[in-house]
Amino acid sequence: PRKIRTHHLQQFKDQGQKFAMLTAYEQYTAQIFDEAGIEVLLIGDSAANNVYGYETTLPITLDEMIPLCRAVSRSAHRALVVADLPFGCYEASPEQAVAASVRLMKEGLVAAVKMEGGQRFAPHLRAIVDAGIPVMAHIGFTPQSEHALGGYRVQGRGDTGQQVIDDAVALADAGAFSVLMEMVPATVAAAVDAAIAVPTVGIGAGNGTTGQVLVWQDMAGLRGGQVAKFVKQYAELRTTLSEAARSYADEVRSGVFPGPEHSF
Ligand code: KIV
Ligand code: NA
Repeated sequence: PRKIRTHHLQQFKDQGQKFAMLTAYEQYTAQIFDEAGIEVLLIGDSAANNVYGYETTLPITLDEMIPLCRAVSRSAHRALVVADLPFGCYEASPEQAVAASVRLMKEGLVAAVKMEGGQRFAPHLRAIVDAGIPVMAHIGFTPQSEHALGGYRVQGRGDTGQQVIDDAVALADAGAFSVLMEMVPATVAAAVDAAIAVPTVGIGAGNGTTGQVLVWQDMAGLRGGQVAKFVKQYAELRTTLSEAARSYADEVRSGVFPGPEHSF
């Protein structure tokens, strides 16, 4: 398709095809990933960690999300652009969830929103969908609930696997166009994909989901340091950029740059 819509993701699932999703927070990565054929771009609230330098996703606000959403939306022409509802802007009521989603659509120019939370949030999700806004549900490990969940832990192991399936079914029934699962056993994620008609997306959820998502700075090796077990690094951008910066500084200090070819 020339432009990816939510119904194309449904077609992918119906035809047994997988799709790729990455985060993006600004112009160049949005352009590059869009041109590379990534089907879904997410302005994640992971911008808290990966753009603004916060320790967790909890501090980021709608006002901090919206400029990033505008930049990505203006730069991506094919991908479906989805924005996260940040912590604190949707939980209180379905009305609050609609108001925040409207801001992401109207000011952030995105095509859909993503909301963390299980079946307790089905009324919120339904209200957003009723306002004409497509919603991706996010279940399993939900980073905004890190403190309630007792840290970064796999969700849905053993007996609690059924809860993940029940959450997915409730949110799909409420109108989610897709259900994303973070850090759940591969068997549970595959069971969810079988239990609901809409496409699933996984991160640390094994190979049985319709789509996969990663944070781009993790995927491209920009972040450095320890990466989670579920991350595969496809490049080493931190090393590449570090070497470029050092070479530039060396050449400035030694007088090699700028050369005659860079001078007027
Ligand atoms: O904020 C984010 O980046 C996310 C995903 C990686 C699922 O929610
Ligand atoms: Na997120």
